[in-house]
Amino acid sequence: MDSNIWLLFIIFLVAHVNICRGNNFTEKVFDVTSYGASPDGQNDSTQAFLKAWNEACTTDCGLLGRAKVLIPEGTFLTGPLCFRGLCKSAMVVEVNGMIVAPTDLRVFRKEWIVFRYVNGLLITGSGGINGLGATAWRKRKGNRLPPSLKLMSVTNTHLQSISFTDSKFFHVLVGQSAHVTIKSINISAPGNSPNTDGIHISESIDVQIQNSTIGSGDDCISIGSGSKNVTVRNVFCGPGHGISVGSLGKYKYDLGVDGIYVTNCTLSRTTNGVRIKTWRDSPAINATNLRFYDIVMEEVENPIIIDQEYCPGTCDDDKPPSRVKISGVTFEKIRGTSATDVAINLLCSSTVPCDIKLKDIDLRPMPPSPGMLPTVPLSTCIHVGNATAEGYIFPPACF
Ligand SMILES: *[C@@H]1O[C@H](CO)[C@@H](O)[C@H](O)[C@H]1NC(C)=O
Ligand SMILES: *[C@@H]1O[C@H](CO)[C@@H](O)[C@H](O)[C@H]1NC(C)=O
Ligand SMILES: *[C@@H]1O[C@H](CO)[C@@H](O)[C@H](O)[C@H]1NC(C)=O
Ligand SMILES: *[C@@H]1O[C@H](CO)[C@@H](O)[C@H](O)[C@H]1NC(C)=O
Ligand SMILES: *[C@@H]1O[C@H](CO)[C@@H](O)[C@H](O)[C@H]1NC(C)=O
Ligand SMILES: *[C@@H]1O[C@H](CO)[C@@H](O)[C@H](O)[C@H]1NC(C)=O
Ligand SMILES: *[C@@H]1O[C@H](CO)[C@@H](O)[C@H](O)[C@H]1NC(C)=O
Ligand SMILES: *[C@@H]1O[C@H](CO)[C@@H](O)[C@H](O)[C@H]1NC(C)=O
Repeated sequence: MDSNIWLLFIIFLVAHVNICRGNNFTEKVFDVTSYGASPDGQNDSTQAFLKAWNEACTTDCGLLGRAKVLIPEGTFLTGPLCFRGLCKSAMVVEVNGMIVAPTDLRVFRKEWIVFRYVNGLLITGSGGINGLGATAWRKRKGNRLPPSLKLMSVTNTHLQSISFTDSKFFHVLVGQSAHVTIKSINISAPGNSPNTDGIHISESIDVQIQNSTIGSGDDCISIGSGSKNVTVRNVFCGPGHGISVGSLGKYKYDLGVDGIYVTNCTLSRTTNGVRIKTWRDSPAINATNLRFYDIVMEEVENPIIIDQEYCPGTCDDDKPPSRVKISGVTFEKIRGTSATDVAINLLCSSTVPCDIKLKDIDLRPMPPSPGMLPTVPLSTCIHVGNATAEGYIFPPACF
């Protein structure tokens, strides 16, 4: 080989053996604009983002060091981005600018921004991710649109501070992951935008959601198949469909859920407050150890609801009842106003009646409009099994 080419090859190699100098907490920064990303919001920055990630991911910053992909201020248009691990060091993605999605749906297959197989990831910053969903909502619905951010098979991951706006489908999806913390994020989409769930969790263990504000056109948070040890604390939800466990049992291979704790949350003008929803004709699975504690309802349509005949589309009432066994459920210290007469609605399954406990519930009607009589809120029960009530319960328990 020509010696000049060898020389070039060696220079290339040296340039690409990425090592963070120093010890302990060294951090090496990979700014996407150094890889050709354009902050003008017009030029496509997809390749630049992927190059920056790939270099950062293959850089060895030592046991305690971190490689940081920096998205500085500005607006960056990017198509599908799959950020893959495993990486040599812990990764940081700092989003200070705005990442915006293409509006042309032909660009997408199923996903937009995905992190896959990453252990040790921090996504943070003062910026945000805008799915520019408004045009897509009118064209297609549901899961044929890409979610904004998908965390798949990640471990030891923190998502914090950044804001999400108008996703085409779900805003944040956590799947097949462990030890994930989401805190201080703000999710915002119109109340009438279809399937724009705030955060959806499935097949994951040890997920914490804290101190966040979520407004969307569907569930603010939905905790689905195979979720274990999930805590939701200090979340404000509204508008939206509330905080839900489920839906469970739509598919043959759906798994149960175990250990869900929702506490210190406020739901404001949502269609549901705290909800457990399961489908008819489900596999025989368990939804157990669910605790809803210290929750404020502001003019919520169904503050406390279990719906084991969940079916948002066209339904077949002849299908066999749900076989999702709901047990170990506590609704405690739940207070505020109900926007409908039925403040507590427990519709369980005739094959596996649900086991629940109510404690310290105070759900009041909204003040009547002038000239109208005040409504009297009530609770309804169908197929409730082993149920207990403790403390003050209003409306009075139906079991
Ligand atoms: C690295 O950490 C060790 C133990 O925590 C400490 O003794 C050492 O001074 C640190 N080195 C540097 C360069 O910070
Ligand atoms: C895209 O980037 C190129 C070069 O980086 C620049 O010349 C061009 O004006 C940009 N296009 C737009 C639409 O901003
Ligand atoms: C909660 O989130 C807000 C922003 O939404 C932030 O300003 C505040 O510092 C956070 N508090 C904690 C305790 O994390
Ligand atoms: C969340 O975002 C919406 C829309 O961008 C904004 O109006 C609202 O003030 C934000 N809330 C918080 C707590 O940051
Ligand atoms: C479950 O979550 C708690 C905090 O909510 C955490 O301390 C514990 O380690 C988690 N358990 C597992 C098995 O992940
Ligand atoms: C409960 O939520 C409020 C705001 O909604 C917050 O100020 C407070 O610190 C939270 N308390 C706990 C124990 O998380
Ligand atoms: C559901 O719980 C019951 C009682 O604890 C247990 O016998 C059964 O194996 C569980 N089913 C599944 C699918 O985990
Ligand atoms: C009924 O529920 C109570 C309180 O949750 C529990 O202690 C008891 O074991 C349950 N009984 C049956 C038969 O499941």
